[in-house]
Amino acid sequence: MTKKTIKAIQQQKGQRKITCLTAYTASIAKIIDNYVDIILIGDSLGSTIYGMKNTQKVTLEMMKAHGRAVSQCCKKAFTIIDMPFNTYNNNKEALANVKKIINYTKCQSVKIETDESNIEIVNHLTKNKIKVVSHIGVTPQKYKNFNKIRTVGKMPNEKEKILNLALNLEKAGSCLIVLECMKESLAKNISKKLKIPTIGIGASKDCDGQVLVIDDILGISSSETKPKFVKSYANFEFIINKSVKKYCLDVINKKFPNKKNVY
Ligand code: KIV
Repeated sequence: MTKKTIKAIQQQKGQRKITCLTAYTASIAKIIDNYVDIILIGDSLGSTIYGMKNTQKVTLEMMKAHGRAVSQCCKKAFTIIDMPFNTYNNNKEALANVKKIINYTKCQSVKIETDESNIEIVNHLTKNKIKVVSHIGVTPQKYKNFNKIRTVGKMPNEKEKILNLALNLEKAGSCLIVLECMKESLAKNISKKLKIPTIGIGASKDCDGQVLVIDDILGISSSETKPKFVKSYANFEFIINKSVKKYCLDVINKKFPNKKNVY
């Protein structure tokens, strides 16, 4: 079994929609590797795994540990790992940290949150043979308080600015681009104008692919208010509650362990 290459993912543009989900642990990675084209080890692990309010305190060490656990279980899916906040402020720092993360985790590409100020970093990393996924629109690392996040691309001048940013990031060598929380018409236009695939989250069905956080689709999300773009396909919170309650009752009532569970 061979892992998908970036070339194979790029060739899906216009042919078949690209599927992507996040994973942070080996057990989830093993399951979803059978289905999705891409697995993203997102810095959303700050909230899903570590209970943080935002992603600004996620460290390189956290990403390395979870990245390696996931990457080792991926036999088919292409892997992307997030560079955490404050680890890619200039060319030198970005390349040094990207090398650390790639060498340790063996992920195939890195994702960085981008704006006009760091296009040059994408260029520098690409020249050094790193596959870079750019992330534009809403870039969560900028926010301490996620309640302040608002959709982008409502005003004509903002639309033009974001489209130009996407075009420049493609020129700089990005292999894919994530479009987060933006007006549908803008995401559609960017997807049409770029040669590289766009992966949307709260963007548009016209993106070349979609990504969601695994905890959200499974219904085990810790956050009380969910963004509109989230769709839950299961209610694992309910299943966990029920199972744990039953286990506790079994222990209290001496129904567990029973004969089958002891040596
Ligand atoms: O950190 C993350 O999981 C992400 C995706 C939701 C796009 O960046």
